[in-house]
Amino acid sequence: MKFEVVTGPLTARRESILLGVTEGKTLPAWADGWAAPVRKGVEGLLKSGRFHGKLNETFLLPVDSHWPAGRGAASNSRSQWIILVGAGKKEELTLDRVRQAAATASRRALSAGIDGFARGLVQVPGAKPEEVAQVVTEGTILGTYRYLELKEVPPEERRSLKTVTLVVKTAQEAAVARAGIRRGQAIAEAVCWARDMINRPSNRLTPTAMAQEAKAAAKKFRFRCRVLGPDQMRRLGMNAVLAVAQGSKEPSRFIILEYRGAGTRQKRPLVWLGKGITFDSGGISIKPADKMEQMKYDMSGGAAVLGALRAIAALKLPVHVVGLVPATENLPGGSAQKPGDVIRAFGGRTIEVINTDAEGRLVLADALAYAQRYKPEGMVDLATLTGACVVALGQHAMGLMGNNPKLIDEVKAAATRSQERAWELPLWPEYAESIRSDVADVKNVGDGKAGTITAGYFLKEFAKETPWVHLDIAGVAWSDSDRGYLRKGATGAGVRLLVELATHWKGVR
Ligand code: BES
Ligand code: MN
Ligand code: ZN
Repeated sequence: MKFEVVTGPLTARRESILLGVTEGKTLPAWADGWAAPVRKGVEGLLKSGRFHGKLNETFLLPVDSHWPAGRGAASNSRSQWIILVGAGKKEELTLDRVRQAAATASRRALSAGIDGFARGLVQVPGAKPEEVAQVVTEGTILGTYRYLELKEVPPEERRSLKTVTLVVKTAQEAAVARAGIRRGQAIAEAVCWARDMINRPSNRLTPTAMAQEAKAAAKKFRFRCRVLGPDQMRRLGMNAVLAVAQGSKEPSRFIILEYRGAGTRQKRPLVWLGKGITFDSGGISIKPADKMEQMKYDMSGGAAVLGALRAIAALKLPVHVVGLVPATENLPGGSAQKPGDVIRAFGGRTIEVINTDAEGRLVLADALAYAQRYKPEGMVDLATLTGACVVALGQHAMGLMGNNPKLIDEVKAAATRSQERAWELPLWPEYAESIRSDVADVKNVGDGKAGTITAGYFLKEFAKETPWVHLDIAGVAWSDSDRGYLRKGATGAGVRLLVELATHWKGVR
């Protein structure tokens, strides 16, 4: 897909045209300068009650010799179309709604056989034109994403948009739009890469394959990547990752990424950690069969860390970030860890494994303890950690917990800016009581109440004094349906949030 920027009036374009319309029956200002039959056609449609401008509503109007008779019925790739998309109420317009509308409209165009269109840039209250260009680019790429690696589909289903043309008024606006497009492309392509890894089944995206993806990206986008195998992990004492890996024949991998942007004044790195369970069967505490196939997405946190590192490297942001992804399967093989086992995590703390299905916090325990080596300025982990988080917040927000108000505020600000919503849950000391063990320093499950918080509290014990935020992305990492710029399946949640965090990183000390 190619993005172009041109100056001149949108009404002079010969290709199909995408128009965002807010709710209301009046003809918007963009229709000035349009040929009378076109104006009439759009006006007629708005008055007819067949198109209201509600968010993500679409309508195709043909602009051809038969105008305005055809009215969006047939699909004909040779004619010019007006692709109308609703943007909701004018006073409720946000960057995220523009991103959603761009996605929905692009998808509608593509399924109608339209392979490119021109569009303008709306004004969003409180947002810069560069940001509008960015979200339009993100919406178009993310909304038309599909996972087709393993499926034979008719060629017309494999088509993608060829050219999207942003039409602006002045050369200065064009420069601003190009900057926004560049940022939007780097981010959206990183999200699509994360989605591909997450959607890829676990027999194909093994821990080894995930590490190879990381290495290839590191080479292409110029950041460092080191991968530890089981032997090196054993020497270091990463016994929690190894314990989870015990039940599987696939060797575990500990992926270490480092990006240091030119011009960074950071003395200590920001460390991002991502849960990389390429398949979670639960282990000996095995999960029920229903929907177990979805547990290939249990490496979504790891994919988000890889994706965000790739994006900030592509954008050459002036920051210093380390990424850590402990990657393994969680299977109930003959040598699998068993309930009651006690393991010694990296750094020496002991953990009683009550439930082998609480494996994410185990691999993150090693990773958080290992991260201390970098003397991080702050740590942010992302993990599909608890089903309880899906119950609490559903698909619309991640759970957020942390030990440092300043870092929590920075992450919240990044969540707001990226519209990857995060909602804070408390880590009051009383919650610690339920993870006290009779035989070890800590146990890996609580009493069944507040499951998201007890998981967070467990991680807190390994973050120690280092400023740290935990994001439980179990609810947001997978979508059951197409929704705006999210497609059914992997969402790539967390990439946009982390890139925002890196962009505005001020430090917490
Ligand atoms: N990967 C799961 C959490 C999960 C569940 C993510 C459903 C997405 C959808 C995690 O490893 C897990 O199994 N957690 C357990 C913890 C429990 C044993 C304390 C859970 O949430 O049931
Ligand atoms: Mn589990
Ligand atoms: Zn899991």
